[in-house]
Amino acid sequence: MNLRNALPAFALAGSLLATSASAQIGTIFCAGQPNSTGSASVMSASGSTNVSQNDVTLSVDGLPANQFGLFITSQTPILAPNPGGSNGDLCIGGSLGRITTLVNSGSTGDVSLALDLTGIPNSNALYAVAPGDTVYFQLWHRDTAAPGFSNFSPGIQIAFDAAPPSISFATDIYPMLTQANINAPRCNACHGPSFGTCGFGIANDAATAYAEIVSAPSGFCCANQIYVIPGDPGNSLLYQKLTNPACGGRMPQGGTFAGDTNVVRDWILAGAPF
Ligand code: HEC
Repeated sequence: MNLRNALPAFALAGSLLATSASAQIGTIFCAGQPNSTGSASVMSASGSTNVSQNDVTLSVDGLPANQFGLFITSQTPILAPNPGGSNGDLCIGGSLGRITTLVNSGSTGDVSLALDLTGIPNSNALYAVAPGDTVYFQLWHRDTAAPGFSNFSPGIQIAFDAAPPSISFATDIYPMLTQANINAPRCNACHGPSFGTCGFGIANDAATAYAEIVSAPSGFCCANQIYVIPGDPGNSLLYQKLTNPACGGRMPQGGTFAGDTNVVRDWILAGAPF
């Protein structure tokens, strides 16, 4: 690895982003070595460990001024001191990728870069970070005032959240709509199969009920709406009627819902799978 040859001598102006004010995430797993400022640089990450938010920004402060660098990444931590004559420690190995956006530390000695978690490089391809992955990052940068001409930031590891347990209509939602309820009649006591109250009927089997509720038009009491819009609980009439209805009263009429409205919300947010 020869950093002097690897780094082209031009800057990408858009790569120097303001430090995000959002939550700090990640853990330093490799301390790094002092650079020509006399101290090791300071690595941090901010944003969210929820992959679906695609919100992670890496920042490194305390770099020598006006030096180019590239973020490198892998899913394997190692410790390799002075790779290729560099002054620093390489802390990641295995299938190692370079994020090709060149950063420059400018007059302040800071860099930051917003990542795209749908396209993180490994040694031969881009991959989408998956829930449950732990990904390691480091900045590899020039340090023209030091004898080895390059150094590395500390390494940071980001453990992304595991996938939430999946919620399905058949096993979670349908039973809530049909179970006995000591506080009120069951939903399908009033909204029976075919033509229940308002034309809203809950069929006697989950598959038919699913087809009549998900992406299906409402009946005649709260007309011209959709019972469940996958991904959009706020505009789904079924969820509105269980929480804060704009049309008519909260359901079940005359009592308290025996299910969990948060589970209904999360199921709709997850795309309302059967
Ligand atoms: C005691 C009878 C009764 C029970 C039990 C009941 N509902 Fe209703 N439901 C009604 C009545 C009456 C209306 C029309 C008045 C209103 O909207 O407040 C209605 C309207 C609705 C509508 C609007 C339908 C449309 O297409 O216009 C939905 C959706 C709904 N209920 C869902 C439910 C759910 C879900 C449950 C169970 C948690 C439930 N209801 C339990 C009586 C009931």
